[in-house]
Formats: sequence, structure tokens, C-alpha cells
Amino acid sequence: MRARQGDWQVGLTVTKSVLRSWFPPLMGLRVLCLACGGGQQGPRACSGAQVTVFDNSQQQLAQDRYVARRENLALDTIAGDMRDLSVFPDETFDLIFHPVSNCFVPDVRPVWREAARVLVPGGILLAGFCNPVLYLFDQEKADDGILEVRHRLPYSDLTSISNDERQVYLDEEQPLEFGHLLEDQIGGQLDAGLVLTGFYEDIWPGAELSKYTPCYIATRSVKLNLVEKRVS
Ligand SMILES: C[S@@+](CC[C@H](N)C(=O)[O-])C[C@H]1O[C@@H](n2cnc3c(N)ncnc32)[C@H](O)[C@@H]1O
Repeated sequence: MRARQGDWQVGLTVTKSVLRSWFPPLMGLRVLCLACGGGQQGPRACSGAQVTVFDNSQQQLAQDRYVARRENLALDTIAGDMRDLSVFPDETFDLIFHPVSNCFVPDVRPVWREAARVLVPGGILLAGFCNPVLYLFDQEKADDGILEVRHRLPYSDLTSISNDERQVYLDEEQPLEFGHLLEDQIGGQLDAGLVLTGFYEDIWPGAELSKYTPCYIATRSVKLNLVEKRVS
């Protein structure tokens, strides 16, 4: 695997790779790949780092173990909910990699609080998430290329649509989705004691909305150390 020689790229969003300048040198780093199962990102971060992939899907984690075995990489996998990282003591990780996935939890603030707790001071959180404008429109019409504003934000598959519409998602075993406000996505990180140091946006290829606006956001944030927190 080329990743072992340091030749790797990973995405937090759909089409763009994360700038290499967003990463510190990986050698010896304790990395948490948060809600990041599936074998795409975790194994690539293994060039010298100690990687833990955390996800609530055993199937996704099995993919990471499969790639790790195939490439002879050391990698831990742990099953759990991204809102509860209590299996990890405070200040366990130097870097958290969190690709688009918090659209699957109704409240994103616990994710930022837990991420901040398990990072060392000065630790880095790289996160991808949906621009909430994605959830303004009637989804069925948007799939047919018609953008009709229908929903108020924040969006919730639990309350913004009818029972019948929700049942279709459940019957198809699709996860329920939540469109969080930027106040919770970005403000939530700041409130958790993280400081933004990087930002970019990305498109959703093929989506009608992408003709007008990027649909995904990526942020780089750093956990404040205690002295900075006290004076702020
Ligand atoms: C879109 S995938 C992102 C990671 C994947 N490697 C990728 O790049 O597509 C979303 C991931 O979030 C996980 N997930 C969804 N809800 C979760 C939760 N509450 N706690 C932890 N993981 C969750 C899913 O199992 C899935 O692996």
C-alpha cells in the first residue's frame, strides 16, 4: 500500500481531498477516525500513526479490518455511538478525523463536546458535514432536478416529513437524516473549546443544488489549551 510510504489522500467530503497541510506528521500520532468505518480513510491514515476507527456499524468496521488485514496494517476498531466516546479517557487522541456523518444524529453538539474531551490540548479535529441548505428542498422533487423550498431548518427526518414518507426510508433501511444549523456545526465546535483554523466547501456531484452552491463543508479546528480557555 502506497500509504505506508506516506503517499496517501483522504476525503472529509465527497470530491475534495483534505489538504496535506491540515495534518501534522502522522508518525506516532494517536488518531481517532470518528464515525468513519468502511475502509476508506482509516487504513490510509496508518502511515506511522496508531489508528482507532470508531463507528456504530459492525459491517463498516469489518471493512476496515478487511483492508487492514489485506495490507498488513495495525488498526483498532471500536463499535459505538459518536455522541458517546466514554470508552476513551480524556485526552486520548492527537487527531480526530470525522468525515460527513453527523447528519445521522439528531443533535450534533454532543459529538463536538466528546471530540474536544478526548483530544489532547492542541489536538486537531478535521470534520466534514452537510451545508444545511441541502435540507431546505423537497427531496423527491430535488432528485428529479426541481428545487422547491419545503422545509424549515434545522431539518429532521423525525419531524419535518410525514409518517408515510419516513416509513419509506425505514422500509428501505436508509438511516434517518438531520440537517443541523451552522450555529450547531460551527458554533458547537467553538462552544466545545475548539478554534477553527481551516475551512473549505465541496460539491455533491450530480445534485441539482450543486449547480448553485457547494453542499458540503470541511473544517479544521484545534483544541484550546487551558490557559487560552481561561482568558477567553
Ligand atoms: C458516510 S459514512 C462516512 C465514512 C465512510 N468511510 C465514507 O467516507 O463514506 C457515515 C458513517 O457514519 C456511521 N454512523 C452513522 N451513525 C453513527 C453513529 N450514531 N455513531 C457512529 N457512527 C455512525 C455509519 O455507520 C457510516 O460508517
